[in-house]
Amino acid sequence: AENVHIVVAAGSGSRYGADMPKQFCDLWGRPLLMTTLERLHSSAHDARIIVVLSADMVEGWREMCAEYGFTLPHDIVTGGPSRAHSVKNAVDTLCPETVGWVTVHDAARPMVTGDMMRRLLAALDDSHPGVIPVVSVTDSIRQILPDGSSVSVDRSIYRAVQTPQLFDGHALIEAYRQEIMPSFTDDASVMEAAGYTSLALVDGDTSNIKVTNPGDIARIELNGPAA
Ligand code: C5P
Repeated sequence: AENVHIVVAAGSGSRYGADMPKQFCDLWGRPLLMTTLERLHSSAHDARIIVVLSADMVEGWREMCAEYGFTLPHDIVTGGPSRAHSVKNAVDTLCPETVGWVTVHDAARPMVTGDMMRRLLAALDDSHPGVIPVVSVTDSIRQILPDGSSVSVDRSIYRAVQTPQLFDGHALIEAYRQEIMPSFTDDASVMEAAGYTSLALVDGDTSNIKVTNPGDIARIELNGPAA
């Protein structure tokens, strides 16, 4: 069977506020996406890597790879208008006859570890076609009501979801045959909407942050040494 890592990097990164989408910003002296791909590859190397890029970044990415001597083999697929569309474009290229497991990972999370990947792989089985890494919520949480007022909620019943998420390839291919809805913010939500409700949760890692706001890259560089 062929295992695959899908890395979605086709976002415009509008919240990050840099000239460049966040996945191409500098981390440890080169575009962040390179660290994401290398760490994902080291965490589970027996998998083909597909990188999803927006059409207007494909040429630029190839130039970056040449400039920085980045030679880790990967295939490129072009993205769509939302994260789910981007994942779907990659999933549509998978071969249902040969596919094994598939991870889907955000380019903007460069800190994936081998320990987390081992936890994910250990939990994938016949009764759990998907495994997602989660962490407790440390901020207090308020729910905004329709009238604009707000109320505090019990944060202990919530978990924040990270990537990589790991799936049985056949189940993922089937789940992505459905129409893409705006509520699909991750692949677990796509699987659930397709009826795959018994997903396993494993511990994520609080260092596995998604670069979203200015300052996040500086935080990563402070916390961890280069891979
Ligand atoms: O915007 P957000 O941080 O939720 O995006 C998560 C990941 O999905 C990022 O790595 C981003 O590049 C990717 N994405 C994508 N195609 C889109 C939107 C986001 O590949 N249309």
